[in-house]
Amino acid sequence: MKKAQSAALRVEVLRSELDYHNRQYYVFDAPVIPDVEYDRLLRELQTLESQHPDLITPESPTQRVGDNPLDGFDEVAHKLPMLSLDNAFDEEELADFDRRIRERLKLSAEAQIRYQAEPKLDGLALNLRYEKGRLVQGATRGDGTRGENVTSNVRTIKAIPLKLSGEGWPDVLEVRGEVFMPRKGFEALNQRARDAGEKTFVNPRNAAAGSLRQLDPRLTAKRPLSFFAYGLGEISSGQIAESQSACMSRLKDWGLPVSPLFKVVADIAACVRYYQSISQQRDKLPYDIDGVVFKVDQLELQQKLGAVSRAPRWAIAYKFPAQEVLTHVESIEFQVGRTGAVTPVARLKPVFVGGVTVSNATLYNMEEVARKDVRQGDTVIVRRAGDVIPEVVSVVNPERDDRPEAVSLPEHCPICGSDIDKPEGEAVARCSGGLYCPAQRKEALKHFASRKAMDIEGLGDKLVEQLVEQQLVNSPADIFTLSLEQLSGLERMAEKSAQNLLDALEKSKQTTLPRFLYALGIREVGEATAQSLASQFGTLDAIQEADEEQLQLTADVGPIVAKHILAFFRQDHNRDVIAALLDRGLQWPEVERLSEDQLPLLGKIIVITGTLSRPRDEIKSELEALGAKITGSVSKKTDYVIAGEAAGSKRSKAEKLDIPILDETGLQDLLKSSVEH
Ligand code: IVH
Repeated sequence: MKKAQSAALRVEVLRSELDYHNRQYYVFDAPVIPDVEYDRLLRELQTLESQHPDLITPESPTQRVGDNPLDGFDEVAHKLPMLSLDNAFDEEELADFDRRIRERLKLSAEAQIRYQAEPKLDGLALNLRYEKGRLVQGATRGDGTRGENVTSNVRTIKAIPLKLSGEGWPDVLEVRGEVFMPRKGFEALNQRARDAGEKTFVNPRNAAAGSLRQLDPRLTAKRPLSFFAYGLGEISSGQIAESQSACMSRLKDWGLPVSPLFKVVADIAACVRYYQSISQQRDKLPYDIDGVVFKVDQLELQQKLGAVSRAPRWAIAYKFPAQEVLTHVESIEFQVGRTGAVTPVARLKPVFVGGVTVSNATLYNMEEVARKDVRQGDTVIVRRAGDVIPEVVSVVNPERDDRPEAVSLPEHCPICGSDIDKPEGEAVARCSGGLYCPAQRKEALKHFASRKAMDIEGLGDKLVEQLVEQQLVNSPADIFTLSLEQLSGLERMAEKSAQNLLDALEKSKQTTLPRFLYALGIREVGEATAQSLASQFGTLDAIQEADEEQLQLTADVGPIVAKHILAFFRQDHNRDVIAALLDRGLQWPEVERLSEDQLPLLGKIIVITGTLSRPRDEIKSELEALGAKITGSVSKKTDYVIAGEAAGSKRSKAEKLDIPILDETGLQDLLKSSVEH
């Protein structure tokens, strides 16, 4: 008996701790303990409850795993209708809303209305009914008058309290708010679906709706749903506060999560500023929103204003430009980029999306085209969010009749006719035309002239395009033979600017080896790699003659980059261009080659394995700074293996090959002696 009593007590303590931590997490966004600790408490409670099943209550935090599947959802009549919102799409419509309110309330034109401002979440509306502080029902909005009883599913959403905390709540309290799926959870859910070869959800809202209307609550329990409260339904005591914002505070006190972005603003001008501020945060928020909502803050005024048809006169949604819209695919074409990447692009019937008119959307690569099965003539959802390039999300009517065949990758470059290569296992197809391909030529020249490369002032993108289109320049070397006459003959080019450009060209001839290397536009050779190559080899000749192994001794250069460098210098026409450039007078000061003096570990190949007392990256950079090359696998060429705790197969291999193995102390000695050296 004593044991059962103490179990009952412990169960109570655990529940109140778990409820507290749940509130800290969902309501205050300020967790005090790590997830594992929460899980430990939950497990302890689960164990106790399984030993004492009589102690289980419906509100226990363990009771969120999901009940048995249902055959269908029962209908629920809403005690008070669940209204929707009128929309405003620009400042004028917003100002009209404010003006209408003042007129209706017979206030002067100067009177200011205080608003409660909040994000408009992109999920679905939910009505939660609490009786005596316990969650008794969750219902969807349905047609506003009748919705579906989704209580079993709602109980699995951790952000929704099964019982209210604090005090002072009325016997009957209906809370309204939005169920949504945070973006991270949505991405993870879709990734799992893809891995399992299942259908993915188009966006977080559909995923949230699909999850809430799932007949098996155990599945809903696995979906990352969340909830913010934004309003009230039936309340037995009539009213819980005088203003919208005070109501929200009370809900928060009772353990219901409300958006941290809720704000009371003084007038309609402040509403506009709020809208702008939220627009800017939109892409960084962890969940989708599609606008902001303004509500007259004083409930007394809300009551006077009332509702027309199904929307209140006291609230409005100021919508962001849609990020997803429908349009038609007019054709699918292939674009060739600077590095020769051949990308399928959907040419679209122009649409306004994400605030701009879009007529092209990337399809990334052929695998994506196949996965989404996009074809000419399809109706598609196009998405443009923030600064992200527009993309085709999915096809709306894949079952339509007489759909054309799926596009296939062309064999030849649409620009220069060279062969297109698509190495096995790589997603990207490439034109092999290199500097010959006009598509790549323009881009290669823009890159060549750019600030971090040859830094040719005045040779901007537009000018490069003109020069290539008029065939005055075909390769980087041609830039240096342009005459004043040729240049001043160009559109929008006065003699003065032509002369300036010639001076800039002359000046750019005095460059540095790293800049020159970077300017060549070798795949995956960025500034840092160009710098490392220059320091490692000292001269351009040495780099051109290096083999794969020697190249890989350079910091930053792994097998793939080494292959790109080799492939570049293997092309005669590339070597011709380099020779021509040198012929035109490009030069650079000799590079001080890193010597063994400066780099005591130069050329040493080191493998790090096992658990060490410091992060591996830290050790790696220290060794690299001394000239060592860190690789991932042990071979005959490895000079040292640094082995920490629990080092496995790499250590055994090193033993077999007789390669010196250093432990943590050995590593310290190596670093120390190298520095002293
Ligand atoms: S208030 C009486 N506030 O938008 C006003 N709705 O278009 C009722 N929504 O069905 C709604 N965030 O699902 C309100 N902060 C917010 C909202 C919000 C999202 C949804 C809600 C509603 C729809 C109306």
